[in-house]
Amino acid sequence: MQEDAQRIAELRRLIDEHNYRYYTLDAPTASDAEYDRLFAELLDLEARHPELASEDSPSRRVGGPPVAAFTQVVHRVAMLSLENAFTESDILAFEERIRRFLNQSADITYVIEPKLDGLAVELVYRDGRLIQGSTRGDGQTGEDITEQLRTVKSIPLRLLQPVDGLFEVRGEVYMENAGLIRLNEQQLRAGRQPFANPRNAAAGSLRQLDPAITASRPLKFFAYGVAAPAETGVTGQYELLSWLAGLGLPVNRHTRFCPTIAEVVAGFADFAALRHTLPYEIDGMVVKVDSFQLQERLGNKIRAPRWAIACKFPAKQETTRLLAIDFQVGRTGAITPVAILEPVSVGGVMVSRATLHNQDELQRKDLRIGDTVLVQRAGDVIPEIVMAIPENRTGTETPVEMPTLCPACGQPLTRPENEAVTRCQNLHCTAQRLQGLIHFTSKAGLDIDGLGRKNVEQLVETGLISDIVDIFTLSQDALEQLDGWGAKSAENVLAAIREKARPPLGRFLAALGIRYIGEISAATLETHFSSLAELAAAEREQLLEIEGIGDQAATSVVEFFRSERGQHLLQRLTEIGVEPIRQASATDNLPLAGMVILFTGGLATLSRDEAKKLVRENGGQVATSVTQKTTHVVAGDKAGSKIRKAQEFGKQILSEEQFLSLIASR
Ligand code: IVH
Repeated sequence: MQEDAQRIAELRRLIDEHNYRYYTLDAPTASDAEYDRLFAELLDLEARHPELASEDSPSRRVGGPPVAAFTQVVHRVAMLSLENAFTESDILAFEERIRRFLNQSADITYVIEPKLDGLAVELVYRDGRLIQGSTRGDGQTGEDITEQLRTVKSIPLRLLQPVDGLFEVRGEVYMENAGLIRLNEQQLRAGRQPFANPRNAAAGSLRQLDPAITASRPLKFFAYGVAAPAETGVTGQYELLSWLAGLGLPVNRHTRFCPTIAEVVAGFADFAALRHTLPYEIDGMVVKVDSFQLQERLGNKIRAPRWAIACKFPAKQETTRLLAIDFQVGRTGAITPVAILEPVSVGGVMVSRATLHNQDELQRKDLRIGDTVLVQRAGDVIPEIVMAIPENRTGTETPVEMPTLCPACGQPLTRPENEAVTRCQNLHCTAQRLQGLIHFTSKAGLDIDGLGRKNVEQLVETGLISDIVDIFTLSQDALEQLDGWGAKSAENVLAAIREKARPPLGRFLAALGIRYIGEISAATLETHFSSLAELAAAEREQLLEIEGIGDQAATSVVEFFRSERGQHLLQRLTEIGVEPIRQASATDNLPLAGMVILFTGGLATLSRDEAKKLVRENGGQVATSVTQKTTHVVAGDKAGSKIRKAQEFGKQILSEEQFLSLIASR
């Protein structure tokens, strides 16, 4: 009994330490298995001794029972917010105000910290133990989210050194970008709305009545302050942060001490660059007067202190007006709605268009022409519309109508059941042709220098090209005549085209833009076929045997090469001497390279899965039925009808032993 109590205490200490090393220091010393073993032992002992239960046991991190509602918590010291600065002169004006207020000309020193984009929380410790956690709320009163915060692994349930009495730590709960992406994938799979940004994700995860849900979310915590600095015994913000770290609280390592305001200004530029390299979002930098004595003299205005300011980066989200929806035809005929926006600067880049992916997204977002919309550039990618702002509607907005005819060729559009995408099925659709050609010459395709989107558009508009074969038969004369072209540019482009007359087979396949054949499946096909002609002659079954080629890809390849267009293409390419070349691959030298092996009957020394794995590891392929492509059949015990078929086809039949020696022999 006494022993169990001691062991429980010891386990709690050990697990706390491993958590701290793993989540806060990022320097674990225990394996996952060892950690799991300690955790299981603790759960077991605690189950046997309910009388030894403790609020700050690490076992509580999995999330206690759901709460009925959030109760209110009054903060002992109000949680203030910050005034904003945007430019260098705003920062200099901040110091000016401080100097005037203090009537001081001597140097003032500062601390700069990343401004994390999450949710501000307060953690209350009594004699070193976490007893309460709350949101900021309106600054005076927040919500009690103690059980939810206990599940955040980087929040210590016990401090490394106890601090006597009540002690409130403040900081930000946030989510890393990778965690947010994973969470949003789960949300989508479960049919729920994804979170628009890490702040919403952190807030939404903490405001769960069921702490077990919070426990499943990848939340993290950084401490950036305390309610009552005077009570800590340290004299300034910079020292405070290292003192907090010493108590086992995570603090941000990019925090910097600045002896002058000039260094604060320089730091703002550094943080703006740093922003793109961090695994989490920061939306600015917080500047704090370092000295607590000066902070005290400066005091607070109503909502914000005079001794700190938030320097915000240009917003990555902005509002603007939705002017129209354009429907674009992609190279596979997919119709993509594109939002045409009143131009607006988002994070320093002008945005006038945003993709909407597909019709469902358009409907889900319930966008209307004339709406005020929230636009963002997430992770510096293509701008997107986060949502419409319905409060701004005046009643003059008009709903968006989906087209029923192709905006390029006028043929009826179709939307296959179970598909999110509306398509133009017309193989001769001019827009599809154009997009296909743009793809063919682009970096994702053959990467032909000098044939970017603009030039391809010009060549199509002037009628010089209408399919990919035409690219290889362009003449110097014809090119020279085009607007904006001269002898030199025509020569350069022709040389670039000639360079690609014997392209790698995989690249060429990817460039063709066959539906479901992207870069990866094209590369896979290249390792299995020696030429374009051989691939074009392949049967669907044969393609299906290739690992990584699924039903849709196999069907699409066969349909493409059987189609009139595919046949014509093959013939013309040969005539004009364009020949994709298979590249030697890394698997070529492996013992089973080029072999397609079928297993039948029970094997004596290997499981079926082990055998298949051996084949793949040694450069071969596994067949599931006897076809033309099968090269060897390995017959085990009670091999059945497949042996007969293999004999009929004249395939080589091997025993298990012979198969193994094949691998060992080379
Ligand atoms: S200090 C009185 N430091 O920004 C000082 N806040 O607009 C108040 N924030 O509600 C906060 N990182 O959620 C401080 N390093 C940091 C911060 C930070 C993010 C947030 C916090 C606060 C808001 C103020």
